[in-house]
Amino acid sequence: MKHQKILVIGSSNTDMVIQTRKFPAPGETILGGKFFMNPGGKGANQAVAAQRLGGSVSFVGKIGNDIFGKQAVQLLENEGINVRYVAVDPENPSGVALITVDSKAENSIVVAPGSNGTLNPADFDKAQPELESAYFVLMQLEIPIPTVEYIARLAAQKEKKVILNPAPAASLSDELLRNLYLITPNETEAEILTGIRVSDEASALQAATFLHNKGVHIVIITMGAAGAFLLENGSSGMVPAPLVKAVDTTAAGDTFNGALVVALSEGKSLQESVTFANLAASVSVTRPGAQSSVPYRKELNVSPNPFPHE
Ligand code: RIB
Repeated sequence: MKHQKILVIGSSNTDMVIQTRKFPAPGETILGGKFFMNPGGKGANQAVAAQRLGGSVSFVGKIGNDIFGKQAVQLLENEGINVRYVAVDPENPSGVALITVDSKAENSIVVAPGSNGTLNPADFDKAQPELESAYFVLMQLEIPIPTVEYIARLAAQKEKKVILNPAPAASLSDELLRNLYLITPNETEAEILTGIRVSDEASALQAATFLHNKGVHIVIITMGAAGAFLLENGSSGMVPAPLVKAVDTTAAGDTFNGALVVALSEGKSLQESVTFANLAASVSVTRPGAQSSVPYRKELNVSPNPFPHE
C-alpha cells in the first residue's frame, strides 16, 4: 500500500475532564460526576488518530519543562509517532484543558495554551528535515497563527499539501487560505471564516465556495451527526456519517482530521477518505475522552467499511 508521510504540527494538552448532567450557569457551582485525566490537544489528538489509523506520522509541538509535557510526549512516542522535533519551553507550563461533558455528549472546553502558545517559526525551522520528507502537513489553530502562516507558506513553496483544521475558530488571512490544499471547518468555524451562517447543504455550499474562491482547493465542512459537506473542483455534496449513540464528542473533529489525512496518504479518493473519516469520528464519540477515544484501524472493520478489501 502507498504510504505518504504525514507531518502534524500543533498543540498537546493534558485534559482534565468532569462529566456533568448539565453545564453550570455563570456564577453557579454544581456537583458533577466522574473526573478523569487523559492526553489531549488538537495537534496531538490528530497525530494519534493518524498514527492509530495506519499513517506514518511525525509530530512537532512545544511542551513545558514539566511532568505533563514529558508524559504527553512519551505517550505519543509509545504510539510510534516520531517526536524528535518537539521543542521545550523553559518558562511556560505545558498546555492544559479543562473540559466538562454533559449528558447530551456535548463538551465545553477552556484551554490554557502555555508552551503551545510559544511555538514559533524558529522552533519549526529546527524541524525542517521533517517537512522535506512529508507529503501532507496537517495543522490546527491552538498554536500561534503567525507560526501557522509561516509553516503553510514554506510548505506550499515546497509543494507539500497543507491541510488546516481551523479550530478553535478564528478569522484567517487571504494569504494563509491561498497556501492551503484543504480546509476542514465545522459549521461555527465556517461562519467565522466566511460570514455565512451554515445550517444546511445550501448554506454549506455557499460558505465552501467562498473559501474555494480564496484559493483553497478542497473544502470540507464537518456538520456533526449529519456528516460532512465536500466541495472540490465544482462538484459538491454531503457525505453522511453513521448513526451512533454519542457519549462524548471531544476530539471527534480531531479523529476526523487524522483519519482523513491517512486515507488521502494512501491515495484513496476524496469521497472514500471522507467516508473513512466519518466512520472513525463516529466511533470516537461512543467513548469518553480525547486520545482515549481515538480508534485503531482494526476497530473500523465494521459495516459500512469504506475499504472492504482490507
Ligand atoms: O479537540 C479536543 C481538544 O481540544 C481537547 O483534547 C483539548 O485539549 C482541546 O485542545
